[in-house]
Amino acid sequence: MNNMGVGMAITGCGSAAPESILTNDHLAQMVDTSDEWINIRTGMKNRHIASPSESLSQLSAVAAKGAIAMAGISPTDIDLIILATSTPDDLFGSACRIQGLIGATNAVAFDLTAACSGFLFALITASQFISTGMYHNVLVIGADVLSRWVDWSDRTSCILFGDGAGAVVCQGVKDNRLLSFGMYSNGSQNDSLNLNYHGNGKPLVDNLTVQHGSYNPITMNGKEVYRFAVAKVPEAISKTMFQANLTADDIDWLLLHQANQRIMDAVAKRLNIAQSKILSNIAEYGNTSAASIPLALDAAVRDGRVKPGDIIAASGFGAGLTWGSAIFKWG
Ligand code: COA
Repeated sequence: MNNMGVGMAITGCGSAAPESILTNDHLAQMVDTSDEWINIRTGMKNRHIASPSESLSQLSAVAAKGAIAMAGISPTDIDLIILATSTPDDLFGSACRIQGLIGATNAVAFDLTAACSGFLFALITASQFISTGMYHNVLVIGADVLSRWVDWSDRTSCILFGDGAGAVVCQGVKDNRLLSFGMYSNGSQNDSLNLNYHGNGKPLVDNLTVQHGSYNPITMNGKEVYRFAVAKVPEAISKTMFQANLTADDIDWLLLHQANQRIMDAVAKRLNIAQSKILSNIAEYGNTSAASIPLALDAAVRDGRVKPGDIIAASGFGAGLTWGSAIFKWG
């Protein structure tokens, strides 16, 4: 909490996922893999995949409306919208389209990109605007449609990703419920996970040449990302627990980016947190990048597992490489 005395509480959540489901058996028809291999190595069974008529903005708007309704406010009460995504409908940003779709006419809106850490980074960014007293009601959305950018012939990566959107409403309060947080980057490992632009030279006029191209599909060194996550995520959560003066026993729920069930299990083990405290929806959604944390949170809040006052240790990690952790009390 800052010296102006404004803390933050997360007062509502919502989520949305496309209807179409891509199963492990579907993937086995496309590449040399099997339901068993995917399930044992990742914990995934299904992923929801956006159809050509579904947009990131539409999914985000549904998630946002759910979060706003749960918070008991109206769209016009929102001061700021931060959309965490790596797959906007529009490279100029999709936050403003969502602002229009939900009628948040008083909000300023912008996109933030930090891959699978995006939601966590956006949540922490929201807390900074709230703690300075600049904004009171902030809508944070994590949404991705990575299926647009997957190489569907690459069995080492195409099995992992699905689409979805999740959102939370953050509000300024006296009794701060964001207990601690940390954010980290390591650009020296940038090559481990990329969705790179690739352009060819196109002569323009005189000696001038410009680049014309598009984005290459996702490339990933799975083993390196795995090792990074299992090393850095427990370290980041330990630091935030220490800052908040909490021990592993105080944590009610572990809310990790849903990249791989084995990563989540290894992180819990390293932190001495019971496996039963892991909030996981990976079997149903796969890795939905910036959407994965709010999607898992929303399901657990709506089915009554997460209750007001529960202490949640969250961590996001992914391309960049980026990672971070936040500990908050729900509600
Ligand atoms: N089906 C069947 N076999 C597969 C396969 C698939 N979908 N993908 C890879 N294999 C094969 C490999 O070719 C390799 O064969 P080889 O031993 O003959 O060379 C073997 O399975 C083992 O591959 P390996 O890469 O060692 O598997 P793994 O246990 O590391 O699991 C991942 C691969 C991708 C599931 C795992 O590394 C992972 O989850 N990494 C993190 C990725 C991630 O989370 N990315 C997003 C971060 S936000």
